[in-house]
Amino acid sequence: MCLTERNLGLLGSIVLDLGLNDGSVLVTGAAAGIGLEVAKQFAKEGCDLILWDQSSNIHEVGQSLAAQYSISVKTSRIDVANEAEVNRATEDLTDSQMVPLKYIVHAAAVGSGCFGFPFTRLNPSDWLKPLQVNLMGMVNLAHAVAPILVKQTTGSFVMIGSVAGQIGSQTDPPYSATKAANINFTQCMAKDLAPHGIRVNMVCPGMVKTDLMRSVWESWSRLQDEATDITYERWVDEKVKAMIPLGNMQNAEDIANMVLFLSSRCASQVTGQIINVDGGYVMHW
Ligand SMILES: NC(=O)c1ccc[n+]([C@@H]2O[C@H](COP(=O)([O-])OP(=O)(O)OC[C@H]3O[C@@H](n4cnc5c(N)ncnc54)[C@H](O)[C@@H]3O)[C@@H](O)[C@H]2O)c1
Repeated sequence: MCLTERNLGLLGSIVLDLGLNDGSVLVTGAAAGIGLEVAKQFAKEGCDLILWDQSSNIHEVGQSLAAQYSISVKTSRIDVANEAEVNRATEDLTDSQMVPLKYIVHAAAVGSGCFGFPFTRLNPSDWLKPLQVNLMGMVNLAHAVAPILVKQTTGSFVMIGSVAGQIGSQTDPPYSATKAANINFTQCMAKDLAPHGIRVNMVCPGMVKTDLMRSVWESWSRLQDEATDITYERWVDEKVKAMIPLGNMQNAEDIANMVLFLSSRCASQVTGQIINVDGGYVMHW
């Protein structure tokens, strides 16, 4: 049962009981942006955290969340593109007290760092980093961690994708193409793992003000002259006005809310779904 009544004064109130405090969550890309917010929201639910990031900041982030929410936190500084590092961090988990590992949220990703319109402006070598991090990072994680969940016959993956993976975004074709591959592999994983009681879904943000979003503006801005360059804030405003029906950027919290819902027992019949949290930017029919 997902709905509980909490007596909050005379009227009372119905809230979702996510039941996420029955194990640990592994969040990749947890040192910043959307991954960090997802980690915070799980911590608020009383869920123990396993946090992976290539940034050295990850240990400080972990200590701060452990102190703030009185939960267990294990941090590893790893590059998800490196299969050996992912395997080693996974072995560390099974040796530690951080099981049962029930929830996986994969947020680590990068852009190419180049403005890719038209695509011929790029070199084929500009594709390598996004392919390694965004595609092989997801593959490394899935291969390392799925056997743990299969053994437990329970668990949930939520991948963070992007609307760019659905529309052939011209800003950064290598990023966009790897995000499309992430969608496809999410569906494949969902079909393979369903008989083992494991759900696999994806949340696709539209535009969230994070370091990643700023790097897209920076790569565009580097190519402008005085007459065409505009500030990050104005660039964002213009994009929002032109593309987002609800008229706002999303917050990391908007994305985390959907991630927690999909991870929870409230979504027990949801798998293989690609859910956009994008203010209506991309609408399918
Ligand atoms: N910000 C947006 O507008 C937006 C839009 C669509 C999709 N997304 C997706 O959301 C997710 C999170 O992005 P964000 O905006 O929070 O970015 P961010 O740059 O703020 O955070 C990404 C985190 O991932 C880590 N990371 C990067 N490469 C890594 C690697 N190889 N190994 C381990 N950690 C690594 C970084 O250190 C950082 O902490 C990504 O999958 C991104 O594609 C973001």
